[in-house]
Amino acid sequence: MGGGAMTVGEDTFAQQAVDDAVSRERARIARELHDGVASELAGAISLFKLYLEKANGHPDEGLSEVFEILQRSLKHVREELAELRPAEVGPGGLVGEVRQQAEEFARLYRIRVELSNIGTEDMLTPHQREVVARVVREALTNVRRHSGSTICRVKMAFAARPFLIEVSDEGRGFASEGSAGYGLMGMRERAAGIGGRLEVVSTANRGTTVFLFGPN
Ligand SMILES: Nc1ncnc2c1ncn2[C@@H]1O[C@H](COP(=O)(O)OP(=O)(O)OP(=O)(O)O)[C@@H](O)[C@H]1O
Ligand SMILES: [Mg+2]
Repeated sequence: MGGGAMTVGEDTFAQQAVDDAVSRERARIARELHDGVASELAGAISLFKLYLEKANGHPDEGLSEVFEILQRSLKHVREELAELRPAEVGPGGLVGEVRQQAEEFARLYRIRVELSNIGTEDMLTPHQREVVARVVREALTNVRRHSGSTICRVKMAFAARPFLIEVSDEGRGFASEGSAGYGLMGMRERAAGIGGRLEVVSTANRGTTVFLFGPN
């Protein structure tokens, strides 16, 4: 037993070192993007705006298209930057964050979000907690936008092996994901990024459950 516990401790320690290195690298890429491409695009866009003002509402059509492309690129870079932002989980912790979202859902959208935990969030690495925070946020956003449900449950089994997070609603459900958006795709990629996986079970008029399994 002692030997086994030792190995687990070492693994966690190594994992922590990897997570820290990943966070530092992400922060570096974010800085590069922000100071480089994003600021140059912003500069080009403001010059363009000046030109368009001068053209008095009759700009060259080709140039208007270039302007739109530049604006779209800046939007994408900004979204990318938001993705790279390291600290998704604030000082209130993951559970605090989800609790806050639950309050918001009740107050703003009249959707009751019931929370339950087994174990505590410190059983996960900081990177895992961040992934959980993002997946839960996107799953809740989908509940609000697509399900029509007024109730939703978030179960966080931190103590399970692998850990398991479930977000379920009692809404209209959906047949197949199609190619509607990036939400589910992003959740899958995040799950895979920590060596875990995402599963979605949805039944028409019965509701949807998103399962996030941690690494085995
Ligand atoms: N909880 C849910 N209830 C009903 N339908 C859902 C639910 N979650 C997802 N869907 C369906 O699956 C589709 C894909 O979801 P996904 O999050 O990938 O994209 P999106 O929410 O449409 O757009 P995005 O997340 O990129 O802003 C949705 O458009 C919706 O039809
Ligand atoms: Mg979505």
